[in-house]
Amino acid sequence: MKKTHSGPNQSSRLNSVSKLTLDAPEHSPRIMSLDGLVTIVTGGGRGIGRAVACTLASEGARVVACSRTKEELARTAETINDLGGTCETICADVSNPSQVADLVKQVQEKHSRIDVLVHCAGYTAPYGPLEEVSLEDYENTMDTNAGSLFYFARSLVPIMRSQERGMIVAMSSGAGLRGHARLGVYSMSKFAVQGLIQALAGELEDSPVSCIAINPGGVATKMLEDLFGKEEAQKNQPPEAVANVVKQVVSGEIPVPSGGGVVVRRDEVRVYER
Ligand SMILES: NC(=O)c1ccc[n+]([C@@H]2O[C@H](COP(=O)([O-])OP(=O)(O)OC[C@H]3O[C@@H](n4cnc5c(N)ncnc54)[C@H](OP(=O)(O)O)[C@@H]3O)[C@@H](O)[C@H]2O)c1
Repeated sequence: MKKTHSGPNQSSRLNSVSKLTLDAPEHSPRIMSLDGLVTIVTGGGRGIGRAVACTLASEGARVVACSRTKEELARTAETINDLGGTCETICADVSNPSQVADLVKQVQEKHSRIDVLVHCAGYTAPYGPLEEVSLEDYENTMDTNAGSLFYFARSLVPIMRSQERGMIVAMSSGAGLRGHARLGVYSMSKFAVQGLIQALAGELEDSPVSCIAINPGGVATKMLEDLFGKEEAQKNQPPEAVANVVKQVVSGEIPVPSGGGVVVRRDEVRVYER
């Protein structure tokens, strides 16, 4: 039997997205309330990560938002606290292994557990042919998107194994399932994310810890503005749409087999298997 998280209210879930296809064959019932869940959200200062932090906190999760920009994190915390939620912030560079280890240690020491990681921090080299990508942009893209997931996993897996619960949700991309021309290094980094999620799910098969990828299509955030300009970016789905799917995945309303993921496009929310 594959590990899945399936929520209490299947029929309302089916109504809550415009088109949902469940490719996964079997889903054992498993309910997870978000109330009090200690949840690290990387990239929590803006874009998808900020929307995820606000959405999960509004459902009762104890969010620890992380990024490198203090002011953006403070804005996320203020929004959440104004709504009556709980949000702490930690400035950290996720491409730096010791900063990731330190962040995990701080959260573990304070809360004595870490239930969920939603890893949204990301970077892409500029849009263009592979031969024009600088080595610096290559390293930054790979380290921020893929290396960081490895750094988090190696710190979090022992914690989640010992507490016998946990979920690692990695913000991959449509580019993690199909390489995009002129986004070669970004695609490469997201394929690495997919590979790590699949491999980790295999290693954790004997435990209740699950690993899941989220594969959004275009989302109207700064990342897309930097790639294509503001006007073009604004034509895409809002970050809240992705955050809403993340919330449903974490709660189990959308059941996803460990090692699999969810494609999130304007007109489609589709679960796939490992
Ligand atoms: N936008 C899209 O169309 C789209 C589509 C599919 C997937 N995604 C993925 O979704 C995730 C979020 O992207 P987004 O669109 O929300 O981008 P965004 O608006 O540019 O936000 C990126 C976030 O990541 C943080 N970040 C970047 N480098 C970091 C580092 N080294 N250490 C810590 N935090 C770092 C940024 O904060 P600081 O710069 O302050 O650190 C920011 O909070 C990314 O993984 C991206 O690949 C995006």
